[in-house]
Amino acid sequence: MTNTKKLYIKTYGCQMNVYDSERMAEALEVGGYEQTQDMDEADMILLNTCHIREKAAEKVYSDLGRLKPLHDAKPDLKIGVAGCVAQAEGQEIMRRQPMVDLVVGPQTYHRLPEMMKEVNAGRQALDTDFPEEDKFNLLPKRELPARNPSAFLTVQEGCDKFCAFCVVPYTRGAEVSRPAARILKEAQALVDRGVREITLLGQNVNAYHGHKGGLAGLIWDLAEIEDLKRIRFTTSHPNDMDDALIDAHGTCEKLMPYLHLPVQSGSDRILKAMNRKHTADAYRALIARIREARPDLMFSGDFIVGFPGETDEDFEATLQLVRDVHYGQAYSFKYSARPGTPAAEKPDVPAEIAHERLQRLQALLTEQQYQTQSDMVGRTVNVLFEKQGRQEGQLIGKSDYLHAVHAVAPVDMIGTVQPVRITKSMTNSLTGQLISD
Ligand code: SAH
Ligand code: SF4
Ligand code: F3S
Repeated sequence: MTNTKKLYIKTYGCQMNVYDSERMAEALEVGGYEQTQDMDEADMILLNTCHIREKAAEKVYSDLGRLKPLHDAKPDLKIGVAGCVAQAEGQEIMRRQPMVDLVVGPQTYHRLPEMMKEVNAGRQALDTDFPEEDKFNLLPKRELPARNPSAFLTVQEGCDKFCAFCVVPYTRGAEVSRPAARILKEAQALVDRGVREITLLGQNVNAYHGHKGGLAGLIWDLAEIEDLKRIRFTTSHPNDMDDALIDAHGTCEKLMPYLHLPVQSGSDRILKAMNRKHTADAYRALIARIREARPDLMFSGDFIVGFPGETDEDFEATLQLVRDVHYGQAYSFKYSARPGTPAAEKPDVPAEIAHERLQRLQALLTEQQYQTQSDMVGRTVNVLFEKQGRQEGQLIGKSDYLHAVHAVAPVDMIGTVQPVRITKSMTNSLTGQLISD
């Protein structure tokens, strides 16, 4: 018999939440919880939430509603809400759904074991502070066996940019960089456990200043870790792409040729209203400089359509920017007014117009994605195999350009980088053949 309790975590939102969920699981492991993938056997359910758009935030309440019968049948079941909705709405969550036992923000989850003591004593616990201490320093060391050759590592958190539409500066707080020495230690520990690719995370990752050489300096130090084969970073702001980082894209072999560089709009008028602090042409010029350093680099982006005041002409400028850049992949969203942000005060573009624009933009972006993928057919790319595929004998991995690639290969190639010749492009992935010596 064991006293271990089962923890089920559901993660919404961005990659930083994926990372945070792993760290929360580690923190709760100290408190006697073991993770499960089966919600029905859980003693504790933790929702790690996202507040970025209204739909994402409301989903949390509908999911909580759906947990009600499970909770009624199992009154000892503990329910927690973490992440950005927890930060933004705090007490309101417990008011709307009194069965919630715990609310914890993104900056206080190192206090989870303490909070669980309260919860286990039958009290509700809430902590959405922005404490002085560094939570990462207080979290348990990452000593769990790595589950995947590819891992996330948060290096910077929070945002001081205050784009007019965005809740992140309020939910994640001010920009903070972790010291390089601690990141290097964490990276080494991940590599010791089989990780071969690390994606450095930050809301404004290229504003990282925990190393005297900035993000580029950190990347060069990480590249010294022998068994670390690949380095990526996300998400970058165009205004923080400095020369050293652009140069690293041309000279650091371990830095992968893929860059997520959101622009949001191609209209200068809208960029100004969004408080993005650069023009569309400045972005075009930046893309050109990065391509000069690394001609095969694949770009990805984020776009918002229907920002308050967006005209047909503004939207046309966005389409033009997309045509000029040619993205390998991109995300596009209908503007969602968020409480407390400056743009929320302004009148919305009519829903049908925003909807129609989103359809047109997505059609163009999908066309570019398919084009980029079919251009890969016949080429040989490096693939880091991550796991077994659904088909017998097949492995799935990621190319340097972050395309998902399927290929027949022996299981012991998981965790290794192999050359694969691409034979076919499918909707969201590529198929290839292993090149054997
Ligand atoms: N820190 C990153 C990501 C922010 S959130 C960055 O600066 O790019 C991810 C994306 O969600 C944003 O790039 C933006 O395209 C979108 N987004 C943010 N707020 C939004 C809102 N209110 N409505 C619609 N999309 C939004
Ligand atoms: Fe939000 Fe803008 Fe900060 Fe990105 S840069 S997190 S979009 S405020
Ligand atoms: Fe969402 Fe918070 Fe990430 S609002 S996108 S989970 S930083």
